[in-house]
Order: sequence, then structure tokens, then C-alpha cells
Amino acid sequence: MIRHNSVILNIFIVLNIIKLNAIDSTNSYLKQLAKETFLQDETVVITNHQTSGRGQMGNGWISKDGESLTFSMFKRFDCLLVERQFIISMVVSLGIIEVLKALNVPDISIKWPNDILSAKKKVGGILIENVLESTSVKYSVIGIGINVNETSFLNLPQASSLKLETGIAFTLEEVLQLILKNVFKKLQNLSEKNFFEMKQYYESNLFKKETVSVFETPDGSRFNGIIKGISEIGELSVKTENDDLQNFQLKEVKLIY
Ligand code: BTN
Repeated sequence: MIRHNSVILNIFIVLNIIKLNAIDSTNSYLKQLAKETFLQDETVVITNHQTSGRGQMGNGWISKDGESLTFSMFKRFDCLLVERQFIISMVVSLGIIEVLKALNVPDISIKWPNDILSAKKKVGGILIENVLESTSVKYSVIGIGINVNETSFLNLPQASSLKLETGIAFTLEEVLQLILKNVFKKLQNLSEKNFFEMKQYYESNLFKKETVSVFETPDGSRFNGIIKGISEIGELSVKTENDDLQNFQLKEVKLIY
């Protein structure tokens, strides 16, 4: 059983928030909790101090205590086919960017698959870990890191914060509540039937869509291409110089910008 100092607050009617003073990773914690107990749908874990935050592709996620948001959301699904699981990624990214746009954070876009950018700089990251049962997604642990009030990012020239991009200091709790409310609302009754509608909305917010860009493959070679959108399973669709449309998975290509 996991031991922690936690306060469970009921906001709205169904939402449980577990606030931890410190934890290695809110995603790891919530995943473990979901394994060991029957977690109420829409449970949230948040901490002020993440000692070993995890990012995509085995990268770490570093954040400053009291200046950023690091939290994970737990969501169950009734009927969501595994091959359409990218819809979760799209909906979560869209839920976040809607909030940031409403807060007047400038030039917001989504860098595939789910980096949140303001004026080409990363202000938020998402790590989604799905638990599957047969052909469906049973539940999802959705980890979100938002750089809110940081004013410097040492050796990270492509990172920024909401404060740096707007000149405004935000209240962490307010940004958190807005994101939780909007993302959970969008995830409710989610079904693969919404996939193509979401795909269109997601693509309209996609960074560098229809722009000639440079891509790098894992062996270090580079090529030019144009992002056309995403495939039916959420791969990045790039039109290459010889006019082919190629679909890439996350490990296969990196956008240089
Ligand atoms: C990325 O851009 O690589 C994803 C970063 C996700 C970071 C968040 S912070 C809260 C949650 N707990 C983790 O360990 N990671 C996610």
C-alpha cells in the first residue's frame, strides 16, 4: 500500500484531488494507486515537488516548486478502441490549449504529439499512459506539466512559461482548476466516433502544419518535409520531397525548429 501525506478535497461533485507534499512522479504514483485500489473516476494527484518527473520517450521532466503545475488525471473509458487511443492525446491537448487561449497566452499551438507551445516555445508537456483490456482502453493516467510562473530556463532555449509569454503571474490553483474542468468535460463520453471530428480540430492547431520543415531521424540524417496532419492512428503524416506521404511514429522522427 502506498503511504503519503495527502489531503483529499472534493471539488465539484465527483472530483477527488490528492495533494502530495512530494513524490517521485505523479504519474507513477497514480498508476500504482490504480493497480492497488479501485480508483474513483476523475481522481487527480498533484504535487508541489516532483523528484523524478517523467516525460515522453524516457526523458525527465524538471519543474520548479511553487512555480509550475505537475499533476496527473485518472480517467476510465467504457468503449474506446485501442486503435483510436490517440483521441485521448488530442482531446487533452485541445482541452489545455482552449484554457491557455482563454487566458490570453499568445500564439498557442500543439507540437505533435502533445507538446503545448506558446510563440514556438514549450510551456506544457503531457505524458499519457493507457491501460488496455482486450481491444479497449480501460483507463488512462494523464500526466500534465505546465510551466506557469518560471522566469528562467537554464540551458533550455526552447522552453518558456505562461508568465514569460504574457508578463502576467498566474495563480497555480486557478490554472489547475480551469484545466481539470475543461479536460474532464471533454473526456466525458468520449468515443472513437468522435475521432475524425477531433482530428480536424487538432490539426487546425498543429504547429508547422503545411510549412516546409526539417526533420531528423534517429540515425541523425535530416530531410525536408511538410506536415499534412496525422494518420488514423495518430502518426505524423509528412509529405516528403519526392511527394510521398509518410507516416511516422514518435521514435522515428524529430521536428527541428
Ligand atoms: C513531455 O513533454 O515529455 C511530457 C511531460 C509530462 C510531465 C508531467 S508532470 C506530471 C506528470 N508526472 C510525471 O512524471 N510526468 C507528468
